[in-house]
Amino acid sequence: MESTVQINSKRLWDSLMDMAKIGATSKGGVCRLALTDLDRQGRDLFVKWCREAGCSVRVDRMGNIFARRAGSEPARPPIATGSHLDSQPTGGRFDGVYGVLAGLEVIRALNDADHPTQAPIEVVVWTNEEGSRFAPAMVASGVFAGVFDLEYGLSRADLNGTTMAQELARIGYAGDDPVGKRSLGAFFELHIEQGPILEAERQTIGVVTGAQGQRWYEIRLTGQEAHAGPTPMSRRRDALVGASRIVNEVNRIGLAHPPYACATVGLLNVSPNSRNTIPGEVFFTVDFRHPEDGVLAQMDRELRAFAPATANELGLALDLQQIWHSPAVAFDAACVSSVRRAAEQLGLSHMNIISGAGHDACYISRVAPTGMIFIPCENGISHNEIESASREDVAAGARVLLAAILDRAD
Ligand code: GLV
Ligand code: MN
Ligand code: MN
Repeated sequence: MESTVQINSKRLWDSLMDMAKIGATSKGGVCRLALTDLDRQGRDLFVKWCREAGCSVRVDRMGNIFARRAGSEPARPPIATGSHLDSQPTGGRFDGVYGVLAGLEVIRALNDADHPTQAPIEVVVWTNEEGSRFAPAMVASGVFAGVFDLEYGLSRADLNGTTMAQELARIGYAGDDPVGKRSLGAFFELHIEQGPILEAERQTIGVVTGAQGQRWYEIRLTGQEAHAGPTPMSRRRDALVGASRIVNEVNRIGLAHPPYACATVGLLNVSPNSRNTIPGEVFFTVDFRHPEDGVLAQMDRELRAFAPATANELGLALDLQQIWHSPAVAFDAACVSSVRRAAEQLGLSHMNIISGAGHDACYISRVAPTGMIFIPCENGISHNEIESASREDVAAGARVLLAAILDRAD
C-alpha cells in the first residue's frame, strides 16, 4: 500500500509552517487561543485546503469541523482522524495542528494516488482542546461524546465572561449540525508526545495504549486588603500567603506519588496586585494527573484536607471547586494493534506509551474505537514556544497514520 500511496513529507511540513504563521510569536511559537480571530484564520485556511482537496466540510454547533473525503461505500461510518488548531498562550507549532494537518496530508496523498477507500475518511478539528481560554479542556469533543451537554459546552466562559456560544457566532463557526449524532468507524489522533520518553528511548513511534486521568480545580481565597505599612503582621489576613502554602502543598502532593503523579498551579491572579496593599483575594487553578484513578482520588483527598486547614489557620475564606474530572483512559485494543502493526510494517522503531496530556481522543474513545500515535518532540518540551519536532519524525508519524487509517477503511 505504501508503494502506491505516499505521504508527501515536504507538503506536510510546508503546511505546518504556513499554519504556524497564523498567531506566530516572536520566539518562534504560536498563540492561537480558542475562538479568537486568529483561531478563525486558522480554521478558514484549513477549510480552504480541505475544499481544494475535494472534501465536503460540515461544522457542528460546538464549532467542530468535519472534512470528508467520500468513500466507495458512503453508508459506512467514516474513519476519522484529527486534533485541534487552538493553542496555549505561549504554544508551539505542533501541539494539535500536527494531527490535523497530517490528516489532511493523508487525504492529499490518497488523492495523488487516486486511491479509493471503502469507508469515507474524515479529518476533524475539535474546538477548544486546550482549555486555556475556556475551561475545561477537550470540551467540544466531550460534548460530541455525550460527557457534557450542549448547553454546558456553549456556556463555558473565559475570564472576561465571554462565552463559547458568543465567540462561535462572532467568528462564524456556530454550525448547524447536531453535536455527536453521527457514528465514527474509528478515530486515530496523531500528536507529538509532549514529554521526554520517546526521545530518551530513541523510538520514533509511540503506540499510545491509554491516557492518564486528570482533575482540575479552581480555588479562591479571600482575606482582607489592608495597608502594607501600618498593618502589623499579627493582624493580617493575607490571601497570597494562603495561596503560596497551597501551591507548595500541591507540589508536595505531586512529589509524594512518584513516578507518575503530576501536580501544577499554572494560573494565579492576585487582587488588587498592588505592591503596598496586602492581597485581599487570590484566584488560582490546580491540575492533578495520574494514570490510576485511585491515586488521583488520594491526591484529591490530600488537597481537600490541607486547603481548609490552611485557610482556617490564616483567617481566610476558602472556595475550592473541582471543575473537571477526566478519568484515566484505555484505548481500543484493535486500534492500538493497527498502530503497532503500521509501525512494524514501515520498519519504524516503536514502543507502548501512556499519554501524560489530555487529548480529544480520550473523550472520543467513549463513542468510537480509538487509538493514538505519538512522535518525539525535542527535549520533551511542549506548551512552550520552542516546541519542536524533526521533519523525519513528522513524516514517519503521518505514514503510520495513513497505514492505520487504511487498515480500518477497507
Ligand atoms: C492539554 O493540552 C492538556 O493536556 O492539558
Ligand atoms: Mn494537543
Ligand atoms: Mn496542548
